[in-house]
Amino acid sequence: MYSSLRNAFACLSLFVLVFALSVTGRPATFLEDFKITWSDSHIKQIDRGRAIQLILDRNSGCGFASKRQYLFGRVSMKIKLIPGDSAGTVTAFYMNSNTDTIRDELDFEFLGNRTGQPYTVQTNIYARGKGNREQRINLWFDPAADFHTYTLLWNHRHIVFYVDDVPVRVYKNNEAKGIPFPKLQPMGVYSTLWEADNWATRGGLEKIDWSKAPFYAYYKDFDIEGCPVPGPSNCASNPSNWWEGTAYQLLSPLEARKYKWVRMNHMIYDYCTDKSRFPVTPPECVAGY
Ligand SMILES: *[C@@H]1O[C@H](CO)[C@@H](O)[C@H](O)[C@H]1NC(C)=O
Repeated sequence: MYSSLRNAFACLSLFVLVFALSVTGRPATFLEDFKITWSDSHIKQIDRGRAIQLILDRNSGCGFASKRQYLFGRVSMKIKLIPGDSAGTVTAFYMNSNTDTIRDELDFEFLGNRTGQPYTVQTNIYARGKGNREQRINLWFDPAADFHTYTLLWNHRHIVFYVDDVPVRVYKNNEAKGIPFPKLQPMGVYSTLWEADNWATRGGLEKIDWSKAPFYAYYKDFDIEGCPVPGPSNCASNPSNWWEGTAYQLLSPLEARKYKWVRMNHMIYDYCTDKSRFPVTPPECVAGY
């Protein structure tokens, strides 16, 4: 009796596991959804291809991109940034339409720092060709000590940037107020690691210390869920895609509290309040979340 119950339970767990694997769509390996776009020799696959190591040295940085483009959805990955003296390095995770003139782009950029000084996370949004929407935050943990999840959620209602389960940026669809919102072009998923010591750390004052090279960043748990383009043409407008569901159309009350906490305690720059750059406050800043 006891053992048959146990068998039944084991059987059910197996069923649940198989079911979960077939619906989440999380790829087993990096190469299933991505390809290396810059410097093969500087991206190493580890853990049987389920994780990667990015390398930056004097010779090169590196980059990778999704094989396909997507129109709406959610993209996330776990990243462990360069530890110690990472000043002058930039690690980026972004989506981009790859169209020069009417570019849509969602950026996470991690700006390295001297040992013991906090990384800065810069976010930016291009909608229908217009960018210049930088915001910067400091993180409430050391992003080089462990893996953390960085997520871009993009649906018809808004775009949300998450660090773990904390929304750090929300860009609402305010098209009704004449504010552009990315929705016509699919975007690819990209990541790069490179040196930008002409601007990255304290505006270019802190240079890369090459005696500390090579620098390593690690990525794992790649997850893209969205409408691939080319793909079924009615996918992107299908309201039953889970990322369009009611739970994803607005921040939950808990998320809204976390978002407010980030803005009050961790935001160090907001283009919305930069009067020297924008004497007239940009419309999306006053249109509300
Ligand atoms: C680096 O640390 C300094 C000093 O704490 C801080 O002002 C700066 O915002 C940090 N980030 C970058 C990218 O310079």
